[in-house]
Amino acid sequence: MKFTAIVAAFAAQAAAVSVSGAAEGFAKGVTGGGSATAVYPSTTDELVSYLGDSEARVIVLTKTFDFTNTEGTTTATGCAPWGTASGCQLAINQNDWCSNYESSAPSVSVTYDNAGTLGITVASDKTLIGSGSSGVIKGKGLRIVSGASNIIIQNIAITDINAKYVWGGDAITINDSDMVWIDHVTTARIGRQHIVLGTESSGRVTLSNNYIDGRTSYSATCDGYHYWGIYLDGSSDLVTLKGNYIYHTSGRSPKVQGNTLLHAVNNYWYDNSGHAFEIGSGGYVLAEGNVFQNIDTPVESPIDGQLFTSPSTSANTVCSSYLGRVCQVNGFGSSGSFSQSDTGFLSNFSGKNIASATAYTSVASSVVANAGQGKL
Ligand SMILES: *[C@@H]1O[C@H](CO)[C@@H](O)[C@H](O)[C@H]1NC(C)=O
Ligand SMILES: *[C@@H]1O[C@H](CO)[C@@H](O)[C@H](O)[C@H]1NC(C)=O
Repeated sequence: MKFTAIVAAFAAQAAAVSVSGAAEGFAKGVTGGGSATAVYPSTTDELVSYLGDSEARVIVLTKTFDFTNTEGTTTATGCAPWGTASGCQLAINQNDWCSNYESSAPSVSVTYDNAGTLGITVASDKTLIGSGSSGVIKGKGLRIVSGASNIIIQNIAITDINAKYVWGGDAITINDSDMVWIDHVTTARIGRQHIVLGTESSGRVTLSNNYIDGRTSYSATCDGYHYWGIYLDGSSDLVTLKGNYIYHTSGRSPKVQGNTLLHAVNNYWYDNSGHAFEIGSGGYVLAEGNVFQNIDTPVESPIDGQLFTSPSTSANTVCSSYLGRVCQVNGFGSSGSFSQSDTGFLSNFSGKNIASATAYTSVASSVVANAGQGKL
């Protein structure tokens, strides 16, 4: 090889293993595995080991890691809360859920892949990145839990986790953690939540440029639209949701509660057959510069938390005192109404790292072009 070719080859390798950009918003400053020498797992066992050990690591995925059948399957009695038509999700009887909550639902036999039901543990100080569009984790999700902090996950896809079954598994779980950045991740065909933040504090989290692909053959609403999108529960959680493409869902997109401050900015919601936001007690949501296209119900009633929908240029000047700038209005096309102007919680933004916002007018095209895996 000529020297210039060697240099070019090294440059390509270096480009593939480094994090692109930096987190904006609440998780600003997250470094993940930092400058650790990159490792390239070749088996599912190696991937699990790198993610869960106590070394700071940069882990690069260059292929699909398929966990399907790695832990066997289970056949058991579950239930059919939404009926047994072929497009409806069925439920695994996890923790007696069927007996406790769906006792009138018909019993059905369920057969699911065990690997999907519990994600891979991700320990502190990890960067997990995909090379180009080749980094895929199939059949198992990721769990950032039990005090884990300083984690970057960028440019991968997580797919095919028991999509037929509620309780079949979540793609990304964050619960009892701090400083987590999930960026340019695609999630598709998932049994339960695409992203879930549990009841423990998840600390500072930035979810940016992700593609929540809700197209499914098995839906809790029996219509090809996935119900279990993003669930942000917590206890003093700070979540920046920016530049995400939230497509073809029918509920929980997101559900927010439990003393969670959510800054939803410049996201694109497109084609939802139910509701986008569901805001429970303790959910504090500032939504600005987003686009809602073909969203019948941008927010479900009643709203038990608080919501500021950035209703007008004049009303949005209130943001200046807390965010240091005015808020951006949201854009709507063939969508239901979205108007609530709670301002009491805006003081929670004071002194925090706050994501920037652009006018909604360019959001739909830029999000479609940039969100998800393989777009860096
Ligand atoms: C979060 O952690 C709490 C306490 O361990 C647990 O009860 C809850 O089920 C967890 N949530 C998720 C989504 O893992
Ligand atoms: C919001 O501010 C109140 C009052 O300071 C505080 O009790 C609460 O924990 C804050 N919540 C979040 C999610 O930051």
